Amino acid sequence: MLSPRIPRFSPSFSPAELLTVAHSLTRRGDEHAAIRRFEHEFATMIGVKHAVMVPSARYGFLLLLRGLGLEPGDEIIVPGLTYWAIPSIALAAGFTVVPADIGLHSHVLDPAAFEAAITPKTKAVVPTHLFGTPCDMPRILEIARKHGIKVIEDTAQATGARMAGEMVGSFGDAAYYTFGLTKNMTTLSGAMVSTDDDELAATLRREMATAQPRPIGKALKEAMVGTAMMVATHKWVYPFAVHPAVVLGNKLGQDPIHERFGEAEVRYERAPDASRYQAPRAVQAEVGLRQLSKIERLNSARAANGRFLDEHLAHVPGLGVPTYPDGAEAIYMSFVVHHPQRTALADALRGRGVDTTVGYMSDITRSPLFPELERFDCPHTREAFANLLHLPVHPRLTRRDLKHMVEAVRASCLEVGA
Ligand SMILES: Cc1ncc(COP(=O)(O)O)c(C=O)c1O
Repeated sequence: MLSPRIPRFSPSFSPAELLTVAHSLTRRGDEHAAIRRFEHEFATMIGVKHAVMVPSARYGFLLLLRGLGLEPGDEIIVPGLTYWAIPSIALAAGFTVVPADIGLHSHVLDPAAFEAAITPKTKAVVPTHLFGTPCDMPRILEIARKHGIKVIEDTAQATGARMAGEMVGSFGDAAYYTFGLTKNMTTLSGAMVSTDDDELAATLRREMATAQPRPIGKALKEAMVGTAMMVATHKWVYPFAVHPAVVLGNKLGQDPIHERFGEAEVRYERAPDASRYQAPRAVQAEVGLRQLSKIERLNSARAANGRFLDEHLAHVPGLGVPTYPDGAEAIYMSFVVHHPQRTALADALRGRGVDTTVGYMSDITRSPLFPELERFDCPHTREAFANLLHLPVHPRLTRRDLKHMVEAVRASCLEVGA
């Protein structure tokens, strides 16, 4: 029997979501009713009063900054390791971005580094639950409250994760989430913001009411991409058609999946406004509602896979394994290890059938996009960014896949040395 070939991700889009799209598009329902229902059910799940669908997390973030009363020149603390679009949009809107370091292996904002970065101009902090790992929210909230700093949780990679028994997104003044096709839940594209603040929610709703509705053709196109991902990662297709292409592409110096799904990093020249963004549609909300009915099950499957890897990769020579703040119930959006020879390790793993990626995060203190952030020193961010590698942890992995992965990681680490 062929040894397993394991894709780096599996989409949360399935035939059930495809049927939902077909059903939604062939029926003329009330656009707003489905959106309100999804928002309500999402808010209930997170444990907050309001959720508002927005076109993207970055735009939701900008609306939150403004809605919370921040003004150009105010300082916003973000983790050094994060998604480039977050500092990019804040800088374009005239805010000052201040990076603070992360825990080396937790990859999330270090509360002590956050506290050290506070100045009299600090007005907000963005604890980012990166790779599905919750930040130490009780500690971060305590520090933020002491200094009168607003807390906006970046929950883009952690919908459904918990800290101290509560869902992330429910701790701060507000939070944003994103639901692209490769996230743990999808609304094709699209995102959400949440808050307990009635006035802020009303402002966000007014803002979204002025945006043009997203053309239906876009949802259809995304459903096709979701279907293509579903087929490409299927166990009868991936080993024979996709894995060999990924191995060959990487040998030639190009990663076909990264090229296809990565988004070019840009410096926004000016803050985007509502005219650039389109309001989400009912079809997206209906896909979201279907996803909500299975998110707990899918997250539990991810977490079980992640805990298996935590346990079995704990003592592999040369390999740095993830850590989690006390009280965190991670949802393992990614399983991120460190290795000083990560390129050689990635090649060795692909040779054993396990696909990996360096992912899409940036060390924003060393990114050519943000020269003004170079003066900040975040040593854990630098080290993590240089050494990190994502291993597959998605819900479709079987026990056989996991055992194979553990053997492949052990053998590959031995092969490449430290
Ligand atoms: C941690 C993090 N924050 C923010 C975003 C931005 O989300 P969006 O593409 O919806 O703007 C992403 C996107 O993947 C992300 O991973």
